[in-house]
Amino acid sequence: MNTPTIGRYPATRLRRLRSTSWSRNLARETTLTPHDLILPLFVLPDSGVVTEEIESLPNVYRYSIEALLPVCQQAIDLGIPMVALFPCTPTALKTPDAVEAFNPESLACQAIRAIKAQFGDKIGVMIDVALDLYTSHGHDGLLSADGQRVLNDETVEALVKQALNYARAGVDAVGPSDMMDGRIGAIRAAFEAEGFVDTQIVAYSAKFASGLYGPYRSAVGSASQLGGASKASYQEDAGNVKEALHEALLDVAEGADVVMVKPASYYMDVIAKVEEACLVPVWAYQVSGEYAMIMAAGERGWVDSERVLLEALLCLKRAGCSGILTYGALQVAKILGG
Ligand code: PBG
Repeated sequence: MNTPTIGRYPATRLRRLRSTSWSRNLARETTLTPHDLILPLFVLPDSGVVTEEIESLPNVYRYSIEALLPVCQQAIDLGIPMVALFPCTPTALKTPDAVEAFNPESLACQAIRAIKAQFGDKIGVMIDVALDLYTSHGHDGLLSADGQRVLNDETVEALVKQALNYARAGVDAVGPSDMMDGRIGAIRAAFEAEGFVDTQIVAYSAKFASGLYGPYRSAVGSASQLGGASKASYQEDAGNVKEALHEALLDVAEGADVVMVKPASYYMDVIAKVEEACLVPVWAYQVSGEYAMIMAAGERGWVDSERVLLEALLCLKRAGCSGILTYGALQVAKILGG
């Protein structure tokens, strides 16, 4: 970039444009709107209208399908374009081979069908593709016979079956969040072969092995399955940015429509670089630990959690992403909507 000519004080006073609210509004380079937000929703297998609080995620709930539908309506009314579903699979249905992931009558498929039947194209529905919500061991993939390794190619086959199961139920976008090699290409090929040419793939390309997933794992009940096991053999190392770019470029080449960086706020350099290198939109996932930390400090009166949440999301947009999954989506959209 050419170095622009820089004026000198007092001819240049940068405070001039900051001096009033109308002027700050005109000078702002990045803005946050409800259209930028994707609302994650935890789904319960219960019948009837059931809503459960999640202790580690203030203002976030688990909903039965019946309770979920009015929340989707609320999201639509607030201008939120998409929800991301996370089914809380009963422990009894979790197995080493994750067969429930392929069940057309699974909780996930029922939720997808219910939302699409009621709202059609008024709201997008996305769902994670990974086996962690269905495995008795809590890993995103299938294990070797000795239980020591997460198998790549066997897992990719299972992920393709899972993705097709969701596509047949009518999901708009699948989000492979498993970090196996080659899964985007395999899913894309299967979608083409079955005629799901418009089903989007939102690739969790740069998903890091992070300490920030704790509240999510307790919310979906995968923490107890996983025990102390690490996902470091498939999720990325927090120190690596070249590798994150490599993942994103591969995923785009394999047919990803959107690439995602996760977690978000500690990885803004990754967002900026991926955005520069890829021609597809970049999304970020403000994960459960990020949200919980802001809310916890707010509860203690140490920060204004609403203000920090808005700041965190705006800064993610500034870093280069066009969509953000956040547990604060409803809360934030209400504030933005005035
Ligand atoms: C795994 C998955 C994770 C999250 C969503 N899907 C992480 C993990 O358990 O490794 C975390 C989301 C969050 O913390 O909000 N497929």
